[in-house]
Amino acid sequence: MVLFKVPPSYSISENLVTAEGSYWNRRKFIQTVIGAGIGATLMGCQSKDDQYAELKKTLDLPKLSATKNKAFQVGDRPITKELFAGQYNNFYEFGGTKGIWQNAQNLPTKPWQVEVGGLVNNPQTYDIDDLKTKFPLEERIYRFRCVEAWSMVLPWTGFPMRELIKAVNPKSNAKFVSFSTYYDENVTYGPGFHLGSLPWPYTEGLSIEEMNNDLAFFALGIYGHDLPKQHGAPLRMVVPWKYGFKGAKSIVKIEFLAEQPKTYWNTLDSHEYKFEANVEPDVPHPRWSQATEKFIGNSSEFSWEIKETLPYNGYGDYVGALYS
Ligand code: MTE
Repeated sequence: MVLFKVPPSYSISENLVTAEGSYWNRRKFIQTVIGAGIGATLMGCQSKDDQYAELKKTLDLPKLSATKNKAFQVGDRPITKELFAGQYNNFYEFGGTKGIWQNAQNLPTKPWQVEVGGLVNNPQTYDIDDLKTKFPLEERIYRFRCVEAWSMVLPWTGFPMRELIKAVNPKSNAKFVSFSTYYDENVTYGPGFHLGSLPWPYTEGLSIEEMNNDLAFFALGIYGHDLPKQHGAPLRMVVPWKYGFKGAKSIVKIEFLAEQPKTYWNTLDSHEYKFEANVEPDVPHPRWSQATEKFIGNSSEFSWEIKETLPYNGYGDYVGALYS
Protein backbone atom coordinates (compact mmCIF):
# COMPACT_ATOMS: atom_id res chain seq x y z
CA MET A 1 0.00 0.00 0.00
CA VAL A 2 1.49 3.34 -0.99
CA LEU A 3 0.46 6.36 1.02
CA PHE A 4 1.15 9.77 -0.49
CA LYS A 5 1.26 12.56 2.05
CA VAL A 6 0.34 16.03 0.95
CA PRO A 7 -0.23 19.21 2.95
CA PRO A 8 -3.78 20.60 3.39
CA SER A 9 -5.42 21.89 0.23
CA TYR A 10 -5.22 25.50 1.37
CA SER A 11 -1.45 25.42 1.15
CA ILE A 12 -0.87 23.51 -2.07
CA SER A 13 -1.36 24.18 -5.74
CA GLU A 14 -4.18 22.56 -7.64
CA ASN A 15 -2.01 20.32 -9.80
CA LEU A 16 -0.56 18.54 -6.74
CA VAL A 17 -3.87 17.19 -5.59
CA THR A 18 -5.78 16.71 -8.82
CA ALA A 19 -5.05 14.14 -11.50
CA GLU A 20 -2.66 15.86 -13.85
CA GLY A 21 -4.84 15.19 -16.84
CA SER A 22 -7.86 16.73 -15.25
CA TYR A 23 -5.84 19.71 -14.07
CA TRP A 24 -4.87 20.56 -17.61
CA ASN A 25 -8.22 19.49 -18.93
CA ARG A 26 -10.15 21.96 -16.84
CA ARG A 27 -7.50 24.62 -16.98
CA LYS A 28 -9.19 26.69 -19.64
CA PHE A 29 -12.47 26.50 -17.77
CA ILE A 30 -10.79 27.42 -14.50
CA GLN A 31 -8.97 30.34 -16.09
CA THR A 32 -12.33 31.67 -17.22
CA VAL A 33 -13.67 31.37 -13.72
CA ILE A 34 -10.67 32.97 -12.05
CA GLY A 35 -10.46 35.57 -14.78
CA ALA A 36 -13.93 36.72 -13.81
CA GLY A 37 -12.77 37.50 -10.31
CA ILE A 38 -13.90 34.48 -8.36
CA GLY A 39 -11.47 32.12 -6.81
CA ALA A 40 -9.90 35.02 -4.97
CA THR A 41 -10.21 34.15 -1.28
CA LEU A 42 -9.18 35.53 2.04
CA MET A 43 -6.59 32.82 2.41
CA GLY A 44 -3.64 34.87 1.30
CA CYS A 45 -3.80 37.10 4.36
CA GLN A 46 -4.80 34.54 7.01
CA SER A 47 -2.52 32.39 9.16
CA LYS A 48 -2.87 28.60 8.88
CA ASP A 49 -4.26 28.44 12.45
CA ASP A 50 -6.92 31.01 11.61
CA GLN A 51 -7.87 29.15 8.44
CA TYR A 52 -8.11 25.89 10.36
CA ALA A 53 -10.35 27.47 13.03
CA GLU A 54 -12.51 29.04 10.34
CA LEU A 55 -12.80 25.77 8.42
CA LYS A 56 -13.88 23.95 11.60
CA LYS A 57 -16.55 26.59 12.19
CA THR A 58 -18.06 25.94 8.75
CA LEU A 59 -18.51 22.28 9.77
CA ASP A 60 -19.99 22.99 13.20
CA LEU A 61 -23.67 22.68 12.24
CA PRO A 62 -26.93 21.47 13.81
CA LYS A 63 -27.11 17.69 14.27
CA LEU A 64 -29.45 15.76 12.00
CA SER A 65 -30.71 12.61 13.65
CA ALA A 66 -31.35 9.62 11.43
CA THR A 67 -31.43 5.84 11.51
CA LYS A 68 -28.21 4.24 10.33
CA ASN A 69 -29.01 2.08 7.31
CA LYS A 70 -26.66 -0.89 7.81
CA ALA A 71 -27.24 -2.06 4.23
CA PHE A 72 -25.13 0.84 2.99
CA GLN A 73 -21.66 0.66 4.51
CA VAL A 74 -18.20 0.48 3.01
CA GLY A 75 -16.24 -2.44 4.42
CA ASP A 76 -12.84 -2.06 2.83
CA ARG A 77 -12.10 1.65 3.26
CA PRO A 78 -12.39 4.07 6.19
CA ILE A 79 -14.69 7.08 6.16
CA THR A 80 -12.79 10.12 4.89
CA LYS A 81 -11.87 12.54 7.65
CA GLU A 82 -14.44 15.33 7.78
CA LEU A 83 -11.84 18.09 7.73
CA PHE A 84 -10.39 16.75 4.48
CA ALA A 85 -13.77 16.40 2.77
CA GLY A 86 -14.76 19.88 3.93
CA GLN A 87 -11.73 21.63 2.42
CA TYR A 88 -11.40 19.71 -0.85
CA ASN A 89 -14.45 20.46 -2.97
CA ASN A 90 -15.69 21.11 -6.45
CA PHE A 91 -18.27 23.90 -6.48
CA TYR A 92 -17.42 25.97 -9.52
CA GLU A 93 -20.00 28.65 -8.80
CA PHE A 94 -17.63 29.68 -6.00
CA GLY A 95 -14.27 29.29 -7.72
CA GLY A 96 -12.06 27.18 -9.87
CA THR A 97 -9.91 25.53 -7.19
CA LYS A 98 -10.56 22.83 -4.59
CA GLY A 99 -10.36 25.41 -1.77
CA ILE A 100 -13.75 27.10 -2.27
CA TRP A 101 -15.00 26.51 1.27
CA GLN A 102 -14.56 30.15 2.27
CA ASN A 103 -16.24 31.59 -0.84
CA ALA A 104 -19.09 29.10 -0.49
CA GLN A 105 -20.06 30.62 2.87
CA ASN A 106 -21.75 33.39 0.80
CA LEU A 107 -24.45 30.93 -0.26
CA PRO A 108 -27.74 32.10 1.34
CA THR A 109 -29.52 28.95 2.55
CA LYS A 110 -32.36 30.41 4.63
CA PRO A 111 -35.11 30.49 3.55
CA TRP A 112 -34.80 27.73 0.91
CA GLN A 113 -37.52 26.15 -1.15
CA VAL A 114 -37.41 23.27 -3.59
CA GLU A 115 -39.98 23.23 -6.38
CA VAL A 116 -40.92 19.79 -7.73
CA GLY A 117 -43.02 19.79 -10.90
CA GLY A 118 -43.22 19.04 -14.60
CA LEU A 119 -44.96 15.81 -15.60
CA VAL A 120 -46.35 14.92 -12.16
CA ASN A 121 -49.85 14.55 -10.75
CA ASN A 122 -48.99 16.12 -7.43
CA PRO A 123 -46.56 19.06 -7.82
CA GLN A 124 -45.03 20.32 -4.59
CA THR A 125 -42.99 23.17 -3.22
CA TYR A 126 -41.11 22.11 -0.11
CA ASP A 127 -39.45 24.30 2.50
CA ILE A 128 -36.20 22.63 3.42
CA ASP A 129 -37.47 21.87 6.94
CA ASP A 130 -40.50 20.07 5.42
CA LEU A 131 -38.14 17.70 3.65
CA LYS A 132 -36.54 16.84 7.02
CA THR A 133 -39.88 15.90 8.54
CA LYS A 134 -41.92 14.56 5.61
CA PHE A 135 -39.37 11.95 4.56
CA PRO A 136 -37.77 9.27 6.77
CA LEU A 137 -34.14 10.28 7.29
CA GLU A 138 -31.41 7.68 7.26
CA GLU A 139 -27.62 7.63 7.23
CA ARG A 140 -25.81 5.81 4.44
CA ILE A 141 -22.09 5.42 3.94
CA TYR A 142 -21.18 5.52 0.28
CA ARG A 143 -18.07 5.51 -1.85
CA PHE A 144 -17.59 8.74 -3.81
CA ARG A 145 -15.56 8.74 -7.07
CA CYS A 146 -14.79 11.98 -8.91
CA VAL A 147 -14.21 11.90 -12.69
CA GLU A 148 -10.83 13.51 -11.90
CA ALA A 149 -9.76 10.13 -10.39
CA TRP A 150 -9.84 10.96 -6.67
CA SER A 151 -12.22 9.32 -4.24
CA MET A 152 -13.56 9.44 -0.69
CA VAL A 153 -15.97 7.51 1.55
CA LEU A 154 -18.71 9.77 2.93
CA PRO A 155 -21.53 9.34 5.46
CA TRP A 156 -24.62 11.08 4.08
CA THR A 157 -27.90 11.79 5.87
CA GLY A 158 -31.01 12.10 3.76
CA PHE A 159 -33.74 10.10 2.12
CA PRO A 160 -34.11 7.83 -0.92
CA MET A 161 -35.06 9.67 -4.12
CA ARG A 162 -37.72 7.03 -4.60
CA GLU A 163 -39.69 8.57 -1.70
CA LEU A 164 -39.97 11.84 -3.59
CA ILE A 165 -41.15 10.01 -6.71
CA LYS A 166 -43.94 8.45 -4.64
CA ALA A 167 -44.91 11.83 -3.18
CA VAL A 168 -45.30 13.63 -6.51
CA ASN A 169 -46.68 10.69 -8.52
CA PRO A 170 -45.18 11.17 -12.02
CA LYS A 171 -47.35 10.91 -15.12
CA SER A 172 -46.78 7.92 -17.39
CA ASN A 173 -44.92 10.02 -19.99
CA ALA A 174 -42.29 11.19 -17.45
CA LYS A 175 -39.04 9.47 -18.49
CA PHE A 176 -36.30 11.77 -17.16
CA VAL A 177 -35.72 14.11 -14.24
CA SER A 178 -33.80 17.37 -14.27
CA PHE A 179 -32.19 18.89 -11.14
CA SER A 180 -31.42 22.62 -11.19
CA THR A 181 -29.31 24.39 -8.61
CA TYR A 182 -28.97 27.78 -7.00
CA TYR A 183 -27.60 30.48 -9.23
CA ASP A 184 -27.26 34.18 -8.63
CA GLU A 185 -24.14 35.63 -10.13
CA ASN A 186 -24.23 38.56 -7.73
CA VAL A 187 -23.67 36.05 -4.94
CA THR A 188 -21.49 33.46 -6.59
CA TYR A 189 -19.26 35.72 -8.67
CA GLY A 190 -19.75 39.00 -6.89
CA PRO A 191 -21.51 42.04 -8.37
CA GLY A 192 -20.58 43.08 -11.86
CA PHE A 193 -19.18 39.78 -13.17
CA HIS A 194 -20.92 37.91 -15.95
CA LEU A 195 -19.92 34.52 -17.28
CA GLY A 196 -22.45 34.24 -20.04
CA SER A 197 -20.54 31.58 -21.94
CA LEU A 198 -20.89 28.91 -19.23
CA PRO A 199 -24.20 27.06 -19.06
CA TRP A 200 -25.34 28.13 -15.56
CA PRO A 201 -27.20 27.19 -13.53
CA TYR A 202 -25.44 23.88 -12.82
CA THR A 203 -27.95 21.22 -13.78
CA GLU A 204 -27.95 17.45 -13.75
CA GLY A 205 -30.31 14.71 -14.88
CA LEU A 206 -31.25 11.07 -14.39
CA SER A 207 -33.60 8.68 -16.11
CA ILE A 208 -36.63 7.95 -13.96
CA GLU A 209 -35.43 4.33 -13.54
CA GLU A 210 -32.11 5.60 -12.18
CA MET A 211 -33.89 7.93 -9.77
CA ASN A 212 -36.03 5.00 -8.63
CA ASN A 213 -32.97 2.82 -7.88
CA ASP A 214 -32.28 1.82 -4.26
CA LEU A 215 -29.04 3.79 -4.20
CA ALA A 216 -30.29 7.15 -5.49
CA PHE A 217 -30.34 9.49 -2.52
CA PHE A 218 -31.00 13.12 -1.57
CA ALA A 219 -28.61 14.36 1.09
CA LEU A 220 -29.63 17.00 3.63
CA GLY A 221 -26.64 16.23 5.83
CA ILE A 222 -23.21 14.70 6.09
CA TYR A 223 -21.18 13.47 9.12
CA GLY A 224 -24.35 13.50 11.25
CA HIS A 225 -25.20 17.19 10.82
CA ASP A 226 -26.69 19.57 8.24
CA LEU A 227 -24.79 19.89 4.96
CA PRO A 228 -22.04 22.51 5.06
CA LYS A 229 -22.30 25.10 2.30
CA GLN A 230 -19.18 23.81 0.53
CA HIS A 231 -20.86 20.37 0.19
CA GLY A 232 -23.98 21.85 -1.41
CA ALA A 233 -26.30 22.92 1.41
CA PRO A 234 -29.12 22.49 1.99
CA LEU A 235 -29.96 19.69 -0.51
CA ARG A 236 -27.87 17.75 -3.01
CA MET A 237 -27.98 14.56 -5.07
CA VAL A 238 -25.92 11.48 -4.21
CA VAL A 239 -25.68 8.82 -6.94
CA PRO A 240 -22.61 6.80 -5.91
CA TRP A 241 -22.35 4.57 -8.98
CA LYS A 242 -21.79 7.64 -11.16
CA TYR A 243 -18.94 10.13 -11.30
CA GLY A 244 -19.17 12.88 -8.70
CA PHE A 245 -20.18 15.61 -11.15
CA LYS A 246 -23.63 13.96 -11.41
CA GLY A 247 -24.23 14.92 -7.74
CA ALA A 248 -25.68 18.42 -8.21
CA LYS A 249 -25.36 20.65 -5.13
CA SER A 250 -27.77 23.21 -3.67
CA ILE A 251 -30.86 22.07 -5.57
CA VAL A 252 -33.77 24.48 -6.04
CA LYS A 253 -35.86 22.76 -8.71
CA ILE A 254 -36.69 19.18 -9.74
CA GLU A 255 -38.60 18.66 -12.96
CA PHE A 256 -40.03 15.45 -14.43
CA LEU A 257 -39.72 15.43 -18.23
CA ALA A 258 -40.47 13.36 -21.31
CA GLU A 259 -37.05 14.02 -22.89
CA GLN A 260 -33.48 13.78 -21.64
CA PRO A 261 -32.57 17.20 -20.19
CA LYS A 262 -29.46 19.24 -20.93
CA THR A 263 -26.86 19.05 -18.16
CA TYR A 264 -23.97 21.32 -17.24
CA TRP A 265 -20.79 19.35 -18.03
CA ASN A 266 -22.38 17.44 -20.88
CA THR A 267 -23.28 20.77 -22.50
CA LEU A 268 -19.72 22.04 -22.03
CA ASP A 269 -18.15 18.90 -23.50
CA SER A 270 -20.34 15.92 -24.40
CA HIS A 271 -17.33 13.87 -25.50
CA GLU A 272 -15.66 14.03 -22.08
CA TYR A 273 -18.69 14.15 -19.76
CA LYS A 274 -21.43 11.73 -20.74
CA PHE A 275 -25.01 12.15 -19.59
CA GLU A 276 -24.93 8.68 -18.04
CA ALA A 277 -21.45 9.07 -16.49
CA ASN A 278 -21.36 5.69 -14.72
CA VAL A 279 -18.02 4.81 -13.11
CA GLU A 280 -16.35 2.60 -15.72
CA PRO A 281 -12.70 1.74 -14.98
CA ASP A 282 -12.27 0.17 -18.43
CA VAL A 283 -13.35 3.31 -20.24
CA PRO A 284 -10.62 5.92 -20.00
CA HIS A 285 -11.47 9.58 -19.95
CA PRO A 286 -10.25 10.95 -23.33
CA ARG A 287 -7.11 12.23 -21.59
CA TRP A 288 -6.47 9.99 -18.56
CA SER A 289 -7.08 6.48 -17.29
CA GLN A 290 -10.01 5.69 -15.00
CA ALA A 291 -8.54 2.34 -13.88
CA THR A 292 -7.30 3.63 -10.50
CA GLU A 293 -8.13 6.43 -8.11
CA LYS A 294 -6.48 8.47 -5.36
CA PHE A 295 -8.40 7.57 -2.22
CA ILE A 296 -8.42 10.32 0.42
CA GLY A 297 -8.91 8.64 3.79
CA ASN A 298 -8.61 9.31 7.49
CA SER A 299 -4.92 9.39 8.29
CA SER A 300 -3.53 12.20 10.41
CA GLU A 301 -2.38 14.24 7.42
CA PHE A 302 -4.13 14.96 4.14
CA SER A 303 -2.95 12.07 1.96
CA TRP A 304 -4.12 9.54 -0.57
CA GLU A 305 -3.66 5.89 -1.46
CA ILE A 306 -3.85 4.56 -4.99
CA LYS A 307 -6.77 2.10 -5.24
CA GLU A 308 -8.28 0.15 -8.06
CA THR A 309 -11.50 1.66 -9.40
CA LEU A 310 -14.44 -0.76 -9.43
CA PRO A 311 -17.13 -1.00 -12.13
CA TYR A 312 -20.11 1.13 -11.09
CA ASN A 313 -17.88 2.21 -8.19
CA GLY A 314 -18.56 -1.16 -6.52
CA TYR A 315 -22.37 -0.90 -6.84
CA GLY A 316 -22.89 -3.24 -9.81
CA ASP A 317 -25.27 -5.49 -7.85
CA TYR A 318 -27.63 -2.56 -7.40
CA VAL A 319 -27.46 -0.92 -10.80
CA GLY A 320 -25.95 -3.35 -13.32
CA ALA A 321 -29.40 -4.47 -14.51
CA LEU A 322 -30.31 -0.89 -15.43
CA TYR A 323 -27.75 -0.90 -18.22
CA SER A 324 -27.74 -4.48 -19.46
N1 MTE B 1 -22.84 21.05 -7.99
C1 MTE B 1 -22.80 22.36 -8.29
N2 MTE B 1 -23.92 23.10 -8.12
N3 MTE B 1 -21.67 22.95 -8.76
C2 MTE B 1 -20.52 22.23 -8.98
O1 MTE B 1 -19.51 22.80 -9.42
N4 MTE B 1 -19.43 20.04 -8.86
C3 MTE B 1 -19.65 18.60 -8.98
C4 MTE B 1 -20.63 18.08 -7.91
N5 MTE B 1 -21.78 18.97 -7.80
C5 MTE B 1 -20.53 20.84 -8.67
C6 MTE B 1 -21.72 20.29 -8.14
C7 MTE B 1 -18.41 17.84 -8.92
S1 MTE B 1 -17.40 17.97 -10.28
C8 MTE B 1 -18.09 17.05 -7.85
S2 MTE B 1 -16.72 16.01 -7.89
C9 MTE B 1 -18.88 17.06 -6.60
O2 MTE B 1 -19.94 18.01 -6.65
C10 MTE B 1 -18.00 17.41 -5.42
O3 MTE B 1 -18.71 17.31 -4.22
P1 MTE B 1 -18.00 17.67 -2.84
O4 MTE B 1 -17.26 18.95 -3.05
O5 MTE B 1 -19.07 17.79 -1.81
O6 MTE B 1 -17.04 16.54 -2.55
